Amino acid sequence: MPRPPHTSPTARQLSDRIFSELVARARAREGPVFPLHVGDTWLEPLESARCEALSTQAHPGLHQYAPVQGDPSLLQAITNRVQVRYGITLDPMYVQVMSGGTSGLSVVASALLDPGDEVLLPSPYWPLIRGIVAARGAVAVQVPFYTRLGEPGFDPEAALEARVTPRTVALYVNTPNNPTGRVLPRGALDALERVALRHDLWVLTDEAYEDLHFTPAAEPPFWARPSLRERAVATHTLSKGYGLAGLRVGFTHGPPSALGAIRAAQTFQTYCASRPSQVAAGRALREGEAWVSRARALYQAAGARAAEVFGVPAPEAGTFLFVPVGRWLREGEGDCSGFLGRCLDAGVLLTPGTACGEDFTEYVRLCFTAVPPEALEEALGALSAVLREG
Ligand SMILES: Cc1ncc(COP(=O)(O)O)c(C=O)c1O
Repeated sequence: MPRPPHTSPTARQLSDRIFSELVARARAREGPVFPLHVGDTWLEPLESARCEALSTQAHPGLHQYAPVQGDPSLLQAITNRVQVRYGITLDPMYVQVMSGGTSGLSVVASALLDPGDEVLLPSPYWPLIRGIVAARGAVAVQVPFYTRLGEPGFDPEAALEARVTPRTVALYVNTPNNPTGRVLPRGALDALERVALRHDLWVLTDEAYEDLHFTPAAEPPFWARPSLRERAVATHTLSKGYGLAGLRVGFTHGPPSALGAIRAAQTFQTYCASRPSQVAAGRALREGEAWVSRARALYQAAGARAAEVFGVPAPEAGTFLFVPVGRWLREGEGDCSGFLGRCLDAGVLLTPGTACGEDFTEYVRLCFTAVPPEALEEALGALSAVLREG
């Protein structure tokens, strides 16, 4: 029987109604809107990593396919950077260049998850990860976590344990975290480690904000814990730390048992990451340290300023503030959609907390790196007026 045209139920789950309505309203609105809902940067990247700095003369074959695993000089730059930054020697054989973090994690999901598998998703989380898991037919099991750390009586291990079932196969860990800007402390990491080992789970780490710690990281990366060597698969991107989101480039590494399947999945999904992006990424990794330091300092100041306006603690890392806005909701408002509408009327687009987890109906997410400091100041001024009006 032919089927009528329809979209997949999986795809339908992915839409966020409040958010699409807001974006449509923002488009229809006259006058500028500060786009503090997107996680991007206003900074142009390192000059030598820009598109205009690439030429076929300097890089013959620039427009050809790259090897599936990645351009050898980028692989070298990746292993060097990991060595210098963390003192860890990666075997380049088990590093796979990806077309950014979103694609990298999708490839990882398709290599390691089967339909019906469950993935523990400490929340709030980066909005796309839920869809990445769901697109595989797997189930993202949300566990309120990052916002609860430090809460009296909150036991991170018990919270995760309570959601484990015989179908649980993986745990997703994102520190520094989008959206909270939190860096997981050792106790929380220990809890995650114990759960992963007890239930023999894959540990899928997302290192998107590894370069954007505002104070030096107190802990080595979670994926590097010796007990996790056979189960941790780490995905990195150049989108955040190096401001290269438009190039779509990143990398994944993990144990040999996972990398074979991941490379096979990558072959069938995109074959290889874009070659010009790989050349630029290699340059950024080799020459970009000063650029990253400057970006980090600017972001830290922007994050602290945004936090001050909302009266919440400054973020420890990353590009976002995740703000509980319950006290600014009006009588009868059950979620933050009215509040988001008032922000938009004032010219600022924010993300509803529910994009980051079902429990966050009274939270909003703000990206403090999307616009330059003067524009951020203007946007924060407009938001202050909304807060004052209540
Ligand atoms: C936590 C996290 N992981 C992964 C990504 C994906 O980044 P990209 O696909 O640009 O590499 C993002 C982007 O916002 C993110 O916040």
